[in-house]
Amino acid sequence: MTKLNQSKTATTSALDTQGTVTASAPGKINLVLQAGKPDEKGYHPLYSIFETVSLRETCHASFALLPDCETGQAYTDFALTPSGYPIKVENKADFADAQANRIAAQALAEVEVSKHLAFKAASLLVELYIERHGKTPLPAGHYIDLTIVKRIPIAGGMAGGSADAAATLVAVNKLLNLRLSRLELEKLGRSLGADVPACLTGGISLGLGYGDHMSRLDKDNPTEIRETHHWVMLMSATGLSTPAVFQAFDAKNCGRTEIPSPAQTASILATDHTLKQVLGTSITVAQLLQNDLQDTAFTLRPDLAQTYWAAKATNALNVILSGSGPTIAMLAESADHASALAQQMLTHPNVAATLVTSGPGLPAALEHP
Ligand code: C5P
Repeated sequence: MTKLNQSKTATTSALDTQGTVTASAPGKINLVLQAGKPDEKGYHPLYSIFETVSLRETCHASFALLPDCETGQAYTDFALTPSGYPIKVENKADFADAQANRIAAQALAEVEVSKHLAFKAASLLVELYIERHGKTPLPAGHYIDLTIVKRIPIAGGMAGGSADAAATLVAVNKLLNLRLSRLELEKLGRSLGADVPACLTGGISLGLGYGDHMSRLDKDNPTEIRETHHWVMLMSATGLSTPAVFQAFDAKNCGRTEIPSPAQTASILATDHTLKQVLGTSITVAQLLQNDLQDTAFTLRPDLAQTYWAAKATNALNVILSGSGPTIAMLAESADHASALAQQMLTHPNVAATLVTSGPGLPAALEHP
């Protein structure tokens, strides 16, 4: 819980207060996820092909007046940046499906503001502003107010938290008039989480390093035959911790010995045929889906294996665990096929809710810039 102290905002610059700035960022599915053995930090080199999707998180950012608080009063929805500036984060679940909304609201109730990636992203930018200008951006007695609208499953393996960070970086960059470039935002994003650059980049991209060194694959290839990929996401009632999946993966020494490094990006882009095929039709993409973490996640959560095999028994083009799970992705032929598969899978006892989405998605961006 955070204790607000209004006197901390005494030395402020006269940054114009403006209205609310809104930005959104996409969630993702890993079309291909290959993982190496952990390095000295315990992180894994990855070869990951991300497809961002139409499900997006939205961040509304504005300045707001601090409440008339008694000194020492504690607030659960605020946290302070390292320099002591207050940021409030409110989450709103906005899933089309009522059950998905209930699951999300339950999970969100447990998220602490200081651990929220939206808070961490805004905090980084506030500190950067202070470093640059030698003073706080906040008009006296104000705080930064963030409302995060959630449409991506929480702890679902679809980079919902990373999309929060990406949308917040874009919104607060504008709110504070920092004018950071895309590359600068990507660098900051990488320090927040390995999937944040993918959510900033959008489209279909190759991620090397920790999966955070991005090469967008679909922007320079307008002549490629490409079609929308339609997905059905099978939500689980409970989340699955990414570190726990990686730990179990390491315990069985499942990591590959050879994963290309970011230094090899140019040669991989020039020679790797998979990177062209992932821009192809759904039928081509269906044949490429691969996730090194899938078997490990199924060992930790046998219920997911049951869901997976039930999904495989439908006429979906293919089925894959999304990232480290627990969400399972089914690739469909068309939007109508996706809706029919979603209906069919909703009757499975392990499927808490279904979401229909499509890819590739647009990059993180301001709305009504
Ligand atoms: O970077 P991020 O915080 O999203 O990663 C969550 C967890 O996933 C890390 O704490 C780490 O355990 C694991 N991870 C990893 N190797 C990666 C990316 C993530 O081990 N390349």
